[in-house]
Amino acid sequence: MRLDKYLSEASIGRRKAVRQFIKDGKVLVNGCVQIVPATEIDEQKDVIEYEGEKVIHSGKVYYMFHKPAGCITARKDEREKTVLDFFQELNDNGLFPVGRLDKDTEGLLFITNDGVFNHEVMYPEKHVDKTYFFWAFGELNKDKMDRLIEGVHLEHAEILVKASKVEIDKQGLFYELQAQIEGNGYEKVKKNREIQPVVSGFITISQGCKHQVKRMLKAVGCYIVYLKRVSIGKVTLDETLEKGSYRALTKEEINSFMSHRNDSVT
Ligand code: URA
Repeated sequence: MRLDKYLSEASIGRRKAVRQFIKDGKVLVNGCVQIVPATEIDEQKDVIEYEGEKVIHSGKVYYMFHKPAGCITARKDEREKTVLDFFQELNDNGLFPVGRLDKDTEGLLFITNDGVFNHEVMYPEKHVDKTYFFWAFGELNKDKMDRLIEGVHLEHAEILVKASKVEIDKQGLFYELQAQIEGNGYEKVKKNREIQPVVSGFITISQGCKHQVKRMLKAVGCYIVYLKRVSIGKVTLDETLEKGSYRALTKEEINSFMSHRNDSVT
């Protein structure tokens, strides 16, 4: 494996940053400074050190991916582009997405090969908060926000789902706010679009039902036209990460989900 890939998989830093660490002479391979990021190393035999400490590479990898709209959260698909298509250069068949985002949803998605990590993030009893930014047609007021917190019944499902937090960002008429609305989902609204009320905001949930945020907002009369996940637990989408790109999660980010377990990353 390439030295820079090894270091970034071991959560020393992003690919670009670790290349610089290597060029700066901060990385030793078997006791010798190695300044060429593309150097091939033997992961089983070679001893890699960064700033005087042995680098531990567990074989487990964890990535923060900025999912763009237009791809599906699956490993492979005959017809549709998938989130794993963005990871082809890694040539790692064991990777899978942690949870799922709808095809038209953007934002933070973890990609890993670690089933334990997946469990820690996704298992409902872990109550990991996921925060989404949305634009919707409709109005939100205190009463509707309270209903979202107290819990709403989703259409075609018995289950009661609750938000732990709801915040309004902007509210007004479509023609006043159009320039700020991301994506083109609003084009689906044809009737009197210009004078319809629109609202943007943040909603935090910890359950994970299909289309949950869209269905919750629908339950209070709002129709989502743009949705982006901005955080999972304590990890926030790195805004310097362009849509369709990824970076290794840092040790702190990984351990924010795993620190209580024996298999936390050290
Ligand atoms: N809720 C939704 O409605 N869609 C998503 O993609 C994620 C959460």
